[in-house]
Amino acid sequence: MNPDNDTRPGVADVSVAHAREAKLEAALASLPRVPLVSVKPTPLEPLPRLSELLGGPPLYVKRDDLTGLAFGGNKTRMLEFSLAHARDQGAEVIVTGAAVQSNYCRQISAACARLGLELHLILRPVRPIDREEVQGNHLLMRMFGAKVTVLEDPNVQKREIAARIDELRSQGRRVYQPRLVDIDDLDALAYAEVALEIVRQCRELSIEPSHLYACALDTTQSGVVLGLAYLASPIHVRCFSPSPGGPERSVEMARIANQGAERIGLDIRMSAVDFDNDKSFVGDRYGIPTAAGLEALATVARSEGLLLDPVYTSKAMAGLFADIRNGGLDPDRPVLFLHTGGSPALFGYASDVVDVDES
Ligand SMILES: Cc1ncc(COP(=O)(O)O)c(C=O)c1O
Repeated sequence: MNPDNDTRPGVADVSVAHAREAKLEAALASLPRVPLVSVKPTPLEPLPRLSELLGGPPLYVKRDDLTGLAFGGNKTRMLEFSLAHARDQGAEVIVTGAAVQSNYCRQISAACARLGLELHLILRPVRPIDREEVQGNHLLMRMFGAKVTVLEDPNVQKREIAARIDELRSQGRRVYQPRLVDIDDLDALAYAEVALEIVRQCRELSIEPSHLYACALDTTQSGVVLGLAYLASPIHVRCFSPSPGGPERSVEMARIANQGAERIGLDIRMSAVDFDNDKSFVGDRYGIPTAAGLEALATVARSEGLLLDPVYTSKAMAGLFADIRNGGLDPDRPVLFLHTGGSPALFGYASDVVDVDES
C-alpha cells in the first residue's frame, strides 16, 4: 500500500487515543460510586440474522439491558454515581417520580433495597390501565419495597413530589431527590464510561462503526456523545426520543455534558448541534407504542431472540429500520445499537404487544 493513501491511524495517533482513554478512565474512577452493575463491560454482540433480514449493514447490539440489577437497563449505571452522591449527602430517604411503567423507578427501587434506603415513588399514569393494573415495572417496584403512590391526575406530579419531600423533612428525615439540574451530569457520566467501553470493544472486534443508534431523552445521549467526542471517535450518535419536546432538549444535553466534563476535568466543550435527537418516531406521545415500534420489537424478537421494550428501544429500532430502508446507511460499515433495557415494561403493555400481526 502506498503510505500516502494509508488512512489507518499511525503510532502517534494510537498513543494519543490510548492516553485519552486512560485519562477518561481515571477521571471517572475519581467519582464516588456504589457498585450496582453486575458485569462490565456489557457485551457487544452481532445481530447477523437481523442484518440479513433488513439487507442492511452489519448490526451489533451493546447489551446495556444486561447491567444486571432487577432486569437491568441504562439507569443502573447512573445509579452507581447518583446514589453514591446521595449516600455522601447523608440521605436516608429518596423521593422521586416518573411514569407508572418507569424503568428508572424499577431500577432505583432495587438499588434502594440493596443499599437499605427508604424510597418514595410518586408515579403518573400515562394510560388508563396504569391506574388499574399492577404489572411490569410497577409490580417490581412494589416487590422491592418502594412506597408507591399512583396519582389520579398526572399534572400534579411535581407538586406532589415537593409536598412529600416537605412532609418527610418536617419529620426530621434526611431526604434526597435524584436527577436534579445540579447533579444530572452524574447520570450522564455513566454513559461517558459506556463510550469508553464501546471504543475498546470495537478495537477488539476490529470494527469501525459509522453510527451508534439509541433511544434517549437526555442523560444517556449527553454522556455517550461526550465520551465519544472526548475520545475523538468518528462514530455518529443518532438518537430517537421517546417523547416530544422542543429543540431546547439539545441545548439541555449540551449543558449536561459540559457540566459533567467540568466535574471530572475534561478539556472539551459540547454544543447543541452535537446532539442528533430525532423526534419523528415518538408517535402520539410518551408511553404510547407505535405500529413501527411494535413491528421492530417483533422483528428483533423473532430474528435474534432479543427483547426490546415498547416505550423506548422499539421506537429507536424503528428509526434504525427506517434509515436502513431509506438507504441512508453505508451497507459496508457496521452500525451499533445501544440497548438501554426496559423489557419488564412488556408485561405492562401485553395487550399492545400481543396485537402485533401473528402471521
Ligand atoms: C429503556 C430506556 N431507554 C432510554 C431511556 C432514556 O434515558 P435518558 O433519560 O438517560 O435519556 C430510558 C429512560 O428511562 C429508558 O428507560
